[in-house]
Amino acid sequence: MKYDFTFYNPTRIHFGKKAMEHLPEELANFGDSVLLLYGKNAIKKIGLYDEVIKILNACGKKVTELGGIKPNPSYSQVLEGARLVRENKVDLILAVGGGSVVDCAKAISVSAYTEGDPWQKYWIEFQPLDSEIVPVASILTMVGTGSEMNGGSVITNEDVTIKEGRVFPPEVNPKFSILNPEYTYSVPKIQMVSGIFDIMSHLCEQYFSGDDDNTTDYLIEAVMKSLINSARIAIQNPEDYEARSNIMWCATVALNRITGLSKTQDWEVHGIEHQLGAYTDCPHGLGLSVISMPYYRHIYKYGLHQFVRFAKNVWDVNGEGKSDDEIALEGIAALENFSKEIGIPSTLRELGATEDMLEKIAYSVEEGGGYKKMTHEDILAVLKECF
Ligand code: NZQ
Ligand code: ZN
Repeated sequence: MKYDFTFYNPTRIHFGKKAMEHLPEELANFGDSVLLLYGKNAIKKIGLYDEVIKILNACGKKVTELGGIKPNPSYSQVLEGARLVRENKVDLILAVGGGSVVDCAKAISVSAYTEGDPWQKYWIEFQPLDSEIVPVASILTMVGTGSEMNGGSVITNEDVTIKEGRVFPPEVNPKFSILNPEYTYSVPKIQMVSGIFDIMSHLCEQYFSGDDDNTTDYLIEAVMKSLINSARIAIQNPEDYEARSNIMWCATVALNRITGLSKTQDWEVHGIEHQLGAYTDCPHGLGLSVISMPYYRHIYKYGLHQFVRFAKNVWDVNGEGKSDDEIALEGIAALENFSKEIGIPSTLRELGATEDMLEKIAYSVEEGGGYKKMTHEDILAVLKECF
């Protein structure tokens, strides 16, 4: 653990089938005005909306609603939410939904009382927060992003076709999150596998960087193995509680900072995917999967030892009689096969990209990376390869 770190994560997690029983005691910690944020119709379909409204009413809360938060949430909805927070003097923003709803809640929280244009200040110039942070909490219905226990907030500004993520300090994290794996049973298969690959990608972005023998690497390998195992079970039986609960916890652990401690990190695959999302609005994890394979083949030689380790420790590749290059490539192929096995498309075309978008995407992504600094030309080459 050669780089110093301070670890602090203030989100209280209530996990399991009875997690909702904790909502009243949590609500008692906040004032009476609640902004209830949700997506299109999933929470109404599964009866969760009625359940939450009933508890809010029983706790004497005054509820303002903002439904229809889009997957890949938009900046215009952030501004709408910020206005509702000010008008109703909101004490708690309660996000019920997937990562998009939770991300949007955090963006509303930091935008409500700041002066000027929050997009420019917080997502473009990455300025420090300068106003009241309205408390956020979440009831999660779709797993993958880790937003339930981090300060991440990824917002799409449709006016300028930019999807940008910002990790806010822990004070912006949800104060509490209710994680009942049963709420995820109804997630459509394509969204479920998108979430699974999102988790895998978070782990890869943290794993494929740095060169020390870090405890964090061992933790990541363990979470990857649990994820792969449970994903295979959940694909066969989406209502296998053990598998769905394992996946849910893998997601939280994969991006609550514990699997990134004392490591330099990559995040270039995410940078590229966010711009792909800005142009195509595709599900986040599917974009990550398509981009990951050519990306890792492009960079593996620069971090060969770690790609060999990945192949052996995560995918049980037998290294006997093989060169390090061969072993590393077998590991990447195993990742690719896993992605195919769970039903993820393998080309950008299938995700709605058109050829004329590739250059625009490549040149709007920041040049960066882990083992290798990716130039715009490198990024374009990766995109062409998986088009
Ligand atoms: O709109 P509704 O009706 O709620 O339907 C949603 C949506 O269409 C549906 N859904 C959610 N729960 C369901 C359900 N359908 C049936 N049953 C349920 N129980 O699933 C669809 C996708 O939801 P969304 O919230 O968009 O998915 P996800 O959780 O993958 O969030 C993706 C967003 O998070 C960002 C992504 O970029 C993307 O914008 N990320 C956030 C991160 C963070 N905060 O740290 C990190 C990630 O890397 C990621 O970038
Ligand atoms: Zn992600």
